[in-house]
Amino acid sequence: ITPLPRRPVAPQLKETQSHIEDAKKLAQGAKTLSELKTALESFQGCALKHTAMSTVFADGNAEADIMLIGEAPGADEDRQGLPFVGTSGQLLDNMLYAIGKTRKDDFYIANVIPWRPPGNRPPTTEETRICLPFIQRHIELKNPKVLIFIGATAAKTLLGTKEGMSKLRGKWFDYPVGENGEVTETLSDQKPDQKNAKTIPATVLFHPSYLLRSPGQKKHAWEDL
Ligand code: URA
Repeated sequence: ITPLPRRPVAPQLKETQSHIEDAKKLAQGAKTLSELKTALESFQGCALKHTAMSTVFADGNAEADIMLIGEAPGADEDRQGLPFVGTSGQLLDNMLYAIGKTRKDDFYIANVIPWRPPGNRPPTTEETRICLPFIQRHIELKNPKVLIFIGATAAKTLLGTKEGMSKLRGKWFDYPVGENGEVTETLSDQKPDQKNAKTIPATVLFHPSYLLRSPGQKKHAWEDL
């Protein structure tokens, strides 16, 4: 019997893997938020960067207890270089204001993906995997007391779950923080109390752009707030 030839690893997969390795190295090398911003700005491994105008790093108060994490910048965020500054950002600010809080004082805001996907298409799995080490390190360096994922996509990516919003909202999760700058890749496989000494309480809010499309859900968002 002639053995089947070994299937070569697709060049694109290899390339993605090498970009992920580069991203991990750069992210782990950053010891402060400002070093991480510089590292991200120097990273060339994600195709989204080449079509975006800005690297959207963060906004709000870097000393705040609560870190909000969205999905990816849109056109307004790309133009201004700041997260959540377009229509959905205005609704987010109003939601926070409704509970007596402001982004300037009470929140630090970032996105899973720091570059706008062209035409606001959803980021691909490869793009997300390449950007993941940066947001994981971002959380680690910011070290918030509480994490709030804005929308199911950010929650699914960072909690490594496939559950939809109906199963996620109104609940608390333990977000595992990598130790000693170690960036964990498959969060779903993590047993927080075994591999990661530290976890951060995390919950999920409806994404404001979803609420703009489905205003009927605002009452649930209000309960969650
Ligand atoms: N949607 C997001 O998830 N993030 C932004 O920064 C803007 C819109």
